[in-house]
Amino acid sequence: MATVDPSTLITDDWQVSGQIYTDPGLFAAEQERVFRSQWLYVAHESQLREPGDYVTTYAGTQPVIVSRDGDDGQVHVLLNRCRHRGASVCQAEQGNSSFFRCAYHGWTYANNGSLRGITYDAGYAGLDRGELGLVRLPRVASHAGFVFASFAADGPSLEEHLGHAAPYLTTVSQQGPEGIRLSAGGHNIEFRANWKLQIENTIDNYHFGFVHRSFLDVLADRIGAPPPIVKNILTNPEWRTVDLGNGHSAHEFGDPRSGNNHGQLGDLPFNLIIFPNLCFVGAQVRHVLPKSADRTQVRLYPMLHEGESEEHNAGILRVHESFFGPAGMGGSDDVEVAFDRVADGLRATEHDWLYLSRGLHREEPAGDGRIIGRADDELPQRAFYRQWFRSMTGGEK
Ligand code: FES
Ligand SMILES: [Fe+2]
Repeated sequence: MATVDPSTLITDDWQVSGQIYTDPGLFAAEQERVFRSQWLYVAHESQLREPGDYVTTYAGTQPVIVSRDGDDGQVHVLLNRCRHRGASVCQAEQGNSSFFRCAYHGWTYANNGSLRGITYDAGYAGLDRGELGLVRLPRVASHAGFVFASFAADGPSLEEHLGHAAPYLTTVSQQGPEGIRLSAGGHNIEFRANWKLQIENTIDNYHFGFVHRSFLDVLADRIGAPPPIVKNILTNPEWRTVDLGNGHSAHEFGDPRSGNNHGQLGDLPFNLIIFPNLCFVGAQVRHVLPKSADRTQVRLYPMLHEGESEEHNAGILRVHESFFGPAGMGGSDDVEVAFDRVADGLRATEHDWLYLSRGLHREEPAGDGRIIGRADDELPQRAFYRQWFRSMTGGEK
């Protein structure tokens, strides 16, 4: 359990203790109070179209298989842990199979999790095979093709959890003429820093002109003028951040209802954070997988457009690579500055407070639970930590 009291880690004027990113006991408490209590994104239905299709991923730190039942077509989320002596039973990141066979001693499970066979079973007396299936998460639900699961048998429905964020997800799902698919697979990055830094950096327009200076310079060379991004961030009243409630937030820079993105290839007209582990940036689904207080994996899935040509979708991949690829112009700068250097700096603990107060004085309640901020404000960070604080302490911030 937590070695620090989470209620002491955020002040009323939005200073945040560095321990929020470094304390292993707090990380364990987050797994319990956030990841084992709330809805978690696990997969997209385009990865699970056929009976027997599966993906392996993590619900918090726990390995899971998201699998479409070969018999009734239901999607199950199963713990990827053999009931015999604990080995994970499926290693591939995705595939199609009617069963999962544990490599250790050969116990076999159907793709709905039920135990199909025990090898040389005369060695056991009195095992109840009906009780020995892969453990299922009690709740699975989807919105607009995005599949979520919860370890909690009771609690708010997925629609209640998504609240004001639901229409944005619907817009995401309508990007192509016939929807979207994640068939290009995942592009995985890993860094030695806390998972919440990735969430914070997802809608952080304040950093763009600094961390991405070299990207802006290259762009200026190409178009023969300074690109308008930073000016828009600082002065365009139509660019804004929105606290959507329940930890979710958006940065809008186009029409979030129509999906109009001013003609940028594949890009959404907003960035979006769904608490606690799902983000959308450009043409990308970003699935954040915490590993420990100081280690995180992020899986980036470019969204291809169903019903569009191969050339169109190849173009989306090239744009993705140009910014987020290993030799891209932006993603690696975020890993270096926003994750690695922050993790490094946080080792200095004599004065342990960070500031997330930018724009606090100009937050505007929309009257329906949403709060509106300027594009360069730290409103999305506060939106996230409001729900984090609620989950961790039961109190309000
Ligand atoms: S651990 Fe899976 S069969 Fe033994
Ligand atoms: Fe960035």
